[in-house]
Amino acid sequence: MYKLLIRPLLFLLDAETAHHFSFWAIRTLSKFGFNRLFRKIWAVNDPKLEREVFGLKFKNPVGLAAGFDKDACLYNELSDFGFGFVEIGTLTPKPQEGNPKKRLFRLLDDQGIINRMGFNNKGVFEAVEQLKKDHRVLIGGNIGKNKVTANKNAIKDYLICFETLFDHVDYFVVNVSSPNTPGLRELQDKEPLTNLLKKLKRQNAKQTKKTNQKEKPILLKIAPDLSDDQLMDIILIVKDTEIDGIIATNTTISRKGLKSHMILTEEKGGLSGKPLTSRSTEVIRFLAEKSNKAFPIIGVGGIHSPEDALEKLDAGADLIQLYTGFVYEGPALVKSINQAILNRI
Ligand code: FNR
Repeated sequence: MYKLLIRPLLFLLDAETAHHFSFWAIRTLSKFGFNRLFRKIWAVNDPKLEREVFGLKFKNPVGLAAGFDKDACLYNELSDFGFGFVEIGTLTPKPQEGNPKKRLFRLLDDQGIINRMGFNNKGVFEAVEQLKKDHRVLIGGNIGKNKVTANKNAIKDYLICFETLFDHVDYFVVNVSSPNTPGLRELQDKEPLTNLLKKLKRQNAKQTKKTNQKEKPILLKIAPDLSDDQLMDIILIVKDTEIDGIIATNTTISRKGLKSHMILTEEKGGLSGKPLTSRSTEVIRFLAEKSNKAFPIIGVGGIHSPEDALEKLDAGADLIQLYTGFVYEGPALVKSINQAILNRI
């Protein structure tokens, strides 16, 4: 139904318009009770799918990746498509428009997307208002810095987001790997990254005392464009800072092997979807093997089929996330992945 009817209609629209239209449609249909139908069709409920990772109990290992519900507007409704967790953000302290439009491009011949959204979001304080609703699903809070904040002051932005979201999310993701905020990826270098993560760990401990809650898991989201040496550094940094895990990977700046027209492939931004599948799996495998599976990994990048998902899990991922595959394949993908995981058990 999605691929035959809904996707062709959505793909007639400009990609960003289609995203907003989908949000409107999901919200409206859910208001009229269709969300129960969605859950019935697409959610696979089976205790064998449950996973305990970094101290949290996930009802299944398939999550919605960051960037889809940046402002935490629709996490409950989106979870009705069968996701075991939803990651909101990337959020920044102040609201920001992001890059000028047009900034989102479908590469149909490659089943990919190029985006240079640039952390368009309504800011962390607005997101908290949305997060005051009851949660039907585990929520990850993906945090970043405002474009106007210089890298030397970036820590403050991450701390503001961390402190503000602390009571409202189940785990945190430190995003230093988006290619669309100038200079952001420099924060992946060993020294600034260690410093940033240590400060967040300290804030975690402080917040715990203040609120009488347990510490929140902190994960780092990395780019697929890191070299082996840089990935080895990441393994050391996880150990040194005692953060809880890695999300591998964000979008890539590589344009290797694309079939789409140059007009599209030369658009600036991060590439996601099928062209990213094997590189992100490679990164997951590298981290799992070289660290002796010392920490949990959430695998994301180009999962378009149950086979892609199983490959990520076999490479060492404990949980997985989708974005572009969800756009191309629709909610049936979430269900088929969960069923494939069950079948294997
Ligand atoms: C993203 N992604 C992303 N990641 C992130 O950490 N913060 C963000 O704000 C965004 N925004 C965003 C917007 C759009 C339009 C896309 C397509 C992607 C990256 C996303 O979470 C994921 O890591 C990559 O897209 C790779 O997974 P897929 O899309 O190949 O399944």
